[in-house]
Amino acid sequence: MSIKSVSFNRKTLNGSISVPGDKSISHRAVMFGSLAKGKTTITNFLAGEDCLSTIAAFEAMGVKITRNNQTVVVESAGASELSEPLEPINLGNSGTTARLLMGILSALPYHFTLYGDASLTKRPMDRITNPLREMGAKIDGRENGRFLPIAIRGGKLNPVHYHTPMKSAQVKSGVLLAGLLTDGKTVVEEDTKTRDHTENMLKAFGADLSVEGNSVTVNGNQPLTACDIEVPGDISSAAFFLVAAAITPNSEVKIENVGLNQTRTGIIDVLKLMGVDITVEEKRTIGGEPIGDIIVKSSKPAAATISGDIIPRIIDEIPVIALLATQAEGTTIIKDAEELKFKETDRIESVVNTLQALGAEIEATNDGMIIQGNAKLKGAETNSYGDHRIGMMIAIASLLTEETIELHDDKCIAVSYPNFFEDLDELLQ
Ligand code: S3P
Repeated sequence: MSIKSVSFNRKTLNGSISVPGDKSISHRAVMFGSLAKGKTTITNFLAGEDCLSTIAAFEAMGVKITRNNQTVVVESAGASELSEPLEPINLGNSGTTARLLMGILSALPYHFTLYGDASLTKRPMDRITNPLREMGAKIDGRENGRFLPIAIRGGKLNPVHYHTPMKSAQVKSGVLLAGLLTDGKTVVEEDTKTRDHTENMLKAFGADLSVEGNSVTVNGNQPLTACDIEVPGDISSAAFFLVAAAITPNSEVKIENVGLNQTRTGIIDVLKLMGVDITVEEKRTIGGEPIGDIIVKSSKPAAATISGDIIPRIIDEIPVIALLATQAEGTTIIKDAEELKFKETDRIESVVNTLQALGAEIEATNDGMIIQGNAKLKGAETNSYGDHRIGMMIAIASLLTEETIELHDDKCIAVSYPNFFEDLDELLQ
């Protein structure tokens, strides 16, 4: 396992960068391009390990996919022409590939075996196997299909009206994709709106889909038509630099061409709520996804209570928000975030343990954490636990201490941000 010494103390961040393409949108562009008839060209694709797992899965089903850096061309004859993979499909670390793919595969007339890495093998899959079984899917796996490895005997499904019991865009999307390949109307309802890239992009591919409040209806067995997708910068990756600029003196950074979809911009709202100097300039909208620039300057953050409907809009940003809270004036409380337990690590545990090791005063609760501000961070031996967002949080934390932080298992950062350290280096002065 690789170890990196991170020591960026007392540095200032200045300049403009673009972060890599959005992970959620990159996955979906490959998936929908593979289900559509024709040629889909994806630009600014995130060539992180998770999205490469999605490409490999569809190549295994006979789709022709070529990649030249951040440009991916998907050529498919449509969903009905996909073929049965010869080998088990390796999903790596990618929960999004797993949950969305299971929806698609359940409706195809073939047999599939899915497996993943040690982290993915521990993550719950019953959240997607349950609704798919309600549609008639034949799925089996470890602990009755709760965990990978999982086998699917795909076939004809029935449409469903499903109310998701948890706040999960992956579950919503997996059911909608099964519905897309099934005769009749499938409806997915959620209590709190989660990211809606599936809805936006399916419409761009010509699907018969409507959204009313928190309810999405897809009319199944309508062919998709290939279209070109430009992937916006990933706001979840930008978040690390936005926080970094806010907590270091004399900093000003501009992150260009970031996705500003309302279901993802909770980090902007939290930074504003905590008194960070942030400006957003929306520039254009492509395929239902707004894109713009975000500028953050050094600030004196104040604590906040963060709970309720904003949580799905910041679910991937909570590790770096927790780091910001250690530098705020007062006590920050994060609630209603039990979904953190089901990420690449249990992120309540991994964030709390890591920030404690770095000298912060932070405690775990059942559904979040309580963080005391004005912490003086120190060097320590830390571990990403194989979780890319914990690894990047640790690197940003090192801006706040003169002591060196040893980061064990830094390589996992490539899951969502292969050039993270190069981009950080570009902003550091
Ligand atoms: C994602 C949804 C979220 C998020 C993940 C990507 C997606 O997961 O944490 O990084 O692309 O749909 P959940 O649906 O499990 O909340």
